[in-house]
Amino acid sequence: MRKESRIGFIGSGVMAEAMIKGMLRESVISASQIIASGPRQERGKQLAEKYGIAVTINNAEAVDQADIVVLSLKPQMLSTVLEELSGKIMKDALVLSIVAGATIEKIELGLNHKSVVRSMPNTPAQIGEGITVWTASPDVKEEQREHAKAILNALGEELFVEDEDFLDMATAVSGTGPAYVFLFLEAMVDAAVHLGFPRYMAEKLVLQTVHGSTEYIREAPDHLARLRNQVTSPGGTSAEALYYLERAGFRTAISRAIWAAYQRSISLGTGSIKKRLTEGNE
Ligand SMILES: NC(=O)c1ccc[n+]([C@@H]2O[C@H](COP(=O)([O-])OP(=O)(O)OC[C@H]3O[C@@H](n4cnc5c(N)ncnc54)[C@H](OP(=O)(O)O)[C@@H]3O)[C@@H](O)[C@H]2O)c1
Repeated sequence: MRKESRIGFIGSGVMAEAMIKGMLRESVISASQIIASGPRQERGKQLAEKYGIAVTINNAEAVDQADIVVLSLKPQMLSTVLEELSGKIMKDALVLSIVAGATIEKIELGLNHKSVVRSMPNTPAQIGEGITVWTASPDVKEEQREHAKAILNALGEELFVEDEDFLDMATAVSGTGPAYVFLFLEAMVDAAVHLGFPRYMAEKLVLQTVHGSTEYIREAPDHLARLRNQVTSPGGTSAEALYYLERAGFRTAISRAIWAAYQRSISLGTGSIKKRLTEGNE
């Protein structure tokens, strides 16, 4: 990124810190080029001391002179902040949103600004191991796309998609994904404890099994069913366990869960969940 570029963060929470930390680690930008805004002075002080960045409690100050404005606040605060910043962002600036469910249209209309990148990171981004799916409005220039890519790379891997619909799908798969994985891990650990393992041993066994299995797929890519077949001997332990998982509807439960999360993501984006709640249907 150019030496004179400036990035302004609106929202200085967990994800903003992960991005700042990652960008400085990867030397995408230097601390003097970053300004972060949030309502709590103590939080700003903390970030300024830790990373040497500029901080403010005034959102307008953070976007003033910023070539890239990162929207890193909670979805509930978004409408107020869009209204507050409308007309205050530099014409040639890029707005990069990580706000879950916020559509490009909402941001463009709210800010009266055309160059918008919408992204969906996930929780492991906090340790630089996330996967972020992102898309860009037609007005985003090639150089701005490169900048967005570099910033999102600081959170782990990134995947660009042309169609914004993939953002809602990604919300259900990778965005919400860590919740499914944590539940699966918890169930395996509890099962191991049920067998008689002390919990610390159960956790070690389960975490390394999952880590090792994903690394194995990366090192020796193959169809997942073939890998599963490799560890399933006729009449063996895996065959017995897999029979029970299939009988319990494991695959269908996951498919239905992801479909439900996808539908929820769409309705959160359109605000229809709120409507349903006020209608007393939920
Ligand atoms: N955390 C994740 O793993 C994850 C994954 C995917 C997507 N996301 C998305 O990332 C966004 C940020 O999440 P987060 O986990 O970083 O949340 P967070 O830690 O709560 O950070 C939000 C920040 O916004 C600040 N804020 C509140 N009102 C504001 C205002 N009017 N103007 C400016 N800043 C304001 C908050 O300050 P106070 O703390 O003082 O209220 C807080 O520092 C969310 O939209 C979320 O959907 C998060």
